[in-house]
This record gives sequence, structure tokens and C-alpha cells, in this order.
Amino acid sequence: MVYFDNAATSYPKPKIVYDTIMEVMIDYGANPGRSGHKKALKASRGIFDTRTQISKLFNIKNPMDVIFTFNCTESLNMAIKGALKPGDHVITTSMEHNSVLRPITFLGKLGITNTIVQGDSKGRINPKHIEESIRPETKMIVTTHISNLTGNIMDIETIGKIAKKHGIIYLVDGAQSAGVYDIDVEKMNIDLLAFPGHKGLLGPQGTGGLYIRDGIELAEIFQGGTGSISHSLDQPDVVPDKFESGTPNAPGIIGLGAGIKYIFEEGIENIRNKEESLTKHFIEEASKIDGIKLYGCLEPGYHAPVVALNIGDADSSEVSYILDEEYDIAVRPGLHCAPLAHKTIGTFEQGVVRFSFGYENTHEEIEFAIKALREIAKEV
Ligand SMILES: Cc1ncc(COP(=O)(O)O)c(C=O)c1O
Repeated sequence: MVYFDNAATSYPKPKIVYDTIMEVMIDYGANPGRSGHKKALKASRGIFDTRTQISKLFNIKNPMDVIFTFNCTESLNMAIKGALKPGDHVITTSMEHNSVLRPITFLGKLGITNTIVQGDSKGRINPKHIEESIRPETKMIVTTHISNLTGNIMDIETIGKIAKKHGIIYLVDGAQSAGVYDIDVEKMNIDLLAFPGHKGLLGPQGTGGLYIRDGIELAEIFQGGTGSISHSLDQPDVVPDKFESGTPNAPGIIGLGAGIKYIFEEGIENIRNKEESLTKHFIEEASKIDGIKLYGCLEPGYHAPVVALNIGDADSSEVSYILDEEYDIAVRPGLHCAPLAHKTIGTFEQGVVRFSFGYENTHEEIEFAIKALREIAKEV
């Protein structure tokens, strides 16, 4: 199969990730941070090592400011619901995933108001419009780094400056960028960074994380056993324990650490360059096919390895089905959990066929997909 669905989850993972997960499960699959025996301590050290790798990747000073979750959705929920209280106002954009929009909509029923800054027809967000939406009670700005629909890269550094200037918490959804695009929480003034472990960071599903800048007040969503301060019935007020109740996904987290080490070994710039080169190749060839419409801001430098397209008026699910059934090419049709983004670019009714490329993909696979699209465009 030709796998072009890396925006959903990366596949395949580097072999070292599979090997590491198996090693943890077989050799020391004990409960980290609980019992003090050798296997539990080894698992704890493995988890700390992943915290350190993540800190190095995002320029986070203290690895303890990184907490582990089970996916990016959980991280976003913890950040949004943990920071906002009735009476607060939050600004976000029309290009967000439902994992941002749904928690914000939910909070709307509890007295937390919001402004959704509208993107233009190519899905671009103007940071000036974010600044113009700030009110005295604005507590948080939430934006994605890269749109999971169009692949547009958002200017998070400028938005971070705006947030800092106005003393507002900036939460970045790094779902589509972590592991491929540079994220520097200091340089970009990011207060909270939500990321999945299972996409560009090349870890397994069931992993994700949240960076919480020291000093940001966040209420925890869950209370429970942390293996620390066990005499108290109150949740520990120290990070990461405050936000990490219950048994962690040790094999997954340590496997994620192996994925990040792989990224360091290959070089994040090399990974990005390869994925961008595949994307450029695909866009150039696809745009020559009669009837194909590409969406978003397609200029290199503004575009990540996610490409949205349609063939005439053909239903995006039908095109994706043909790609899968007749060509063994995996893509994702429909609305991509981003209904407002689809409304923004005018594809809410039709959906789009989304191609998302990964480091394992090749130019031969791109050529094959182009040939398939050429043939389908003649048929539908
Ligand atoms: C932009 C964006 N944000 C958040 C998420 C949610 O990530 P997860 O599936 O890890 O919860 C996704 C998933 O595709 C995404 O693309």
C-alpha cells in the first residue's frame, strides 16, 4: 500500500520504535513511578528520557514542564479547560480542528466567551485580526501551527509576540508540525504546546503531550494516584504529577522517545526538506491535471506536507474509495474534523481528498498517485 495519510497518524514508524516498544513490554513492562523495584525504576528512567528528548526538541528548559497524555486532543482539553474560567474570553481561528473548537464551544455554555477569527478563502489567518479581537477579559489565544486541511503554516511567532505584548496565554496546537517543523517555545512565546506523539514525532498511538510554561496556572482535569505524596487526599501541586494521574503508557512513551531520537539522528531539517520536496512534486504535477482543484496557500515556505484537492464535483469519499480499492493508495476524504476550515475554503459540502506525506514516502509513489489521479479524472 502507498500510505499518504500521515496527517492522521504516521505509518510506518521507524523500526527502532517497534523494537523499543517490544523491549519495554517484554523486558521491563512494570509500573513506573509506583513501586521502587528495578524494573519500575527502569521504566521511570525511560519516561524521563522521553521528557528530556521532547524538551531538547522544543527548547523547553525544564523537562518536568512536559506532561504526557494519550493524544493531542487530551492535551488541548487539559490546556483549554484547565486555564479558562467563567467570565474569560478566548480567541481562536476558523482553521482549527474540532479538538480545539469543541472544548471551546462546550465552555461557551459555562460562560466563557469566544471569538473565532475568520481565515480568507485560501485558509490564511491574518495575525492582525487576532490582535483586533483582544478584549480586556481575553485570557487565551489558541491556534494551530499547521492546518490539517490545507497544510498552511500559521505565523505562530507573530501571534506569540501579540499574546506576550498583551499578557495573554498562547496555546499552540502542534498536531501537524511537531517533529517536522521547528518549534521553539522560548523564541515563539508559546505558553502551552499541545502535541501528539503518534504523528510527526513517530511514536505509537496512545501518546501525546503538553508543555506548560512555568507560572501558567492550570487546573488539573483528573485527580488520582500519582505514586507521590500518597498520604494526602489532595492532588499534588507539582508538575508533572499534578497532570499525570493513573498508570502511564510506558511502552508508548518510551517508544515515542525512540521516535524522537530517530528524528535527531536523521535531522529535522532533512526530514522537512524531503517531505517538502515530495509535496512540491505532487502539487506541481497535480495542478497540471484537468479538473483538479487544489486548496490552500500553495507557495513553498507556507505549505506543509498536507495537500487538499478535489476532482471536479466528484464526491471526495468516492475518489478516496477508488484510490484505495483500485490503486491501493491510502488518503483521507471528508471533513477531517475541521468543519469551519472547510467552510472557510468552501468545501463543506464536497469535502476534500487529503494527501499527507511522510518521511518514508518516495517520489516514485508520488508519480504513481499522479498517474492514478490522471486516470480517475478522466472517469469521474
Ligand atoms: C490540527 C490537529 N489538531 C489536533 C488533532 C488531534 O490529534 P489526536 O488525534 O492526537 O488527538 C489533530 C488530529 O488529526 C489535528 O490534525
